[in-house]
Amino acid sequence: MEAQERIILVGVETEANYRHFEESMTELKSLTKTAEGEVVFSLIQRRPQVDRQTVIGKGKLEELQQLADAHEADLIIFNHELTPRQSQLIGDAVGLPVIDRVQLILDIFAMRARSKEGKLQVELAQLEYLLPRLIGQGKNMSRLGGGIGTRGPGETKLETDRRHIRNKITVIKKELKEVEKHRERTRQKRKDNQTFQIGLIGYTNAGKSTILNILTSAQTYEQDQLFATLDPLTKKWRLPEGFEVTVTDTVGFIQDLPTQLIDAFHSTLEESQNMDLLLHVVDASAENRIQQEETVLNLMNQLDLAGLQMLTIYNKADKIDAEQFVPTLFPNVLISAKSSKGKEALSDAIKLLLMEVLEPYHLSLGQDEGTVLNRLKRETLLLSADYEEERQVYQLKGFAQPNSYALRRMEEE
Ligand code: GTP
Repeated sequence: MEAQERIILVGVETEANYRHFEESMTELKSLTKTAEGEVVFSLIQRRPQVDRQTVIGKGKLEELQQLADAHEADLIIFNHELTPRQSQLIGDAVGLPVIDRVQLILDIFAMRARSKEGKLQVELAQLEYLLPRLIGQGKNMSRLGGGIGTRGPGETKLETDRRHIRNKITVIKKELKEVEKHRERTRQKRKDNQTFQIGLIGYTNAGKSTILNILTSAQTYEQDQLFATLDPLTKKWRLPEGFEVTVTDTVGFIQDLPTQLIDAFHSTLEESQNMDLLLHVVDASAENRIQQEETVLNLMNQLDLAGLQMLTIYNKADKIDAEQFVPTLFPNVLISAKSSKGKEALSDAIKLLLMEVLEPYHLSLGQDEGTVLNRLKRETLLLSADYEEERQVYQLKGFAQPNSYALRRMEEE
């Protein structure tokens, strides 16, 4: 394994941010861990406002430099958005690379993006973050240069860089339009086919992908048209009863999501509005768990998702004392996606909720209706199929989506 980068965090508590300062430093620490960095020191300064040049004062800057030496740090991360000038001045003083919170978050998303669309969205956000910064530097330079003869090669390179980035942004935007169209087509297909759709949401690192994998791995399906075109974030899951649904992973939420990313992910997150059921995955062992829950719920409100049926999955039970655990969101289930019993506990909890979300039905099928029976097994949550000798029929009981074949047929009977 590669050695982890050693990181010093820096935060300034000011009159404007003191209310949430501590929380945001805890968050920065956990984000750094998510980015696979090791926090070796957190440097905090209290002052009415941040220093315009170097965010922290001169004395603290010297202290930072000494700390960096003493702890053999590789990187400094500031809990503030830095202007290009600030990061340059701080970097020069400390002799190490300096990044800010937004860059850290962009980096995490770049590391974790899995779908083609996600990767394009993050790259777009990174370039859009970079562009004004390059322009800012350009302005400084042109103020130095007094006109013809004084313009250095740096300026020319900057122009090319900017043009190059703008071109790249245009190309990515075009590609994203294509990917979105494709996503809309597959979504429509699933809707037309009345597939029950489950969406996974949750704070970054809560365990969404792990859960998607335990539910859907080791299940094999015959290639069929509908699912052949799914993107890697949507998988088909067959419940123990036979009911076939889709489960879609979404991008992880994060506190103070940089605006560049909210815009970028809006369309992906909005897709969650089409879900029939949401599973909110929470890392039950996270230090700032309640704050993470609130972040997710707030974002859901903003995206108009608050009205959807939701089950909270408290994950990573293996890392906590279950007896001491106090849940805040209901209905919920406490599991460990990594334990062998996790999958069963989870599907039981989902089944219970499905029985509330779906409509109950009751049907009799003739002996010769084997195809229909198979269809109902796949398309509904079929709980019992008892054969009645006397009338030679199957008595079926289960739960189905409104408007589905099962319910229409029940009405006809
Ligand atoms: P994002 O992609 O950032 O949104 O993360 P995610 O929610 O998809 O989380 P992921 O499934 O990638 O899991 C994050 C980390 O938690 C991984 O290192 C998992 O191995 C670990 N993890 C997931 N479930 C459990 C669990 O039940 N117990 C423990 N101890 N670790 C778990």
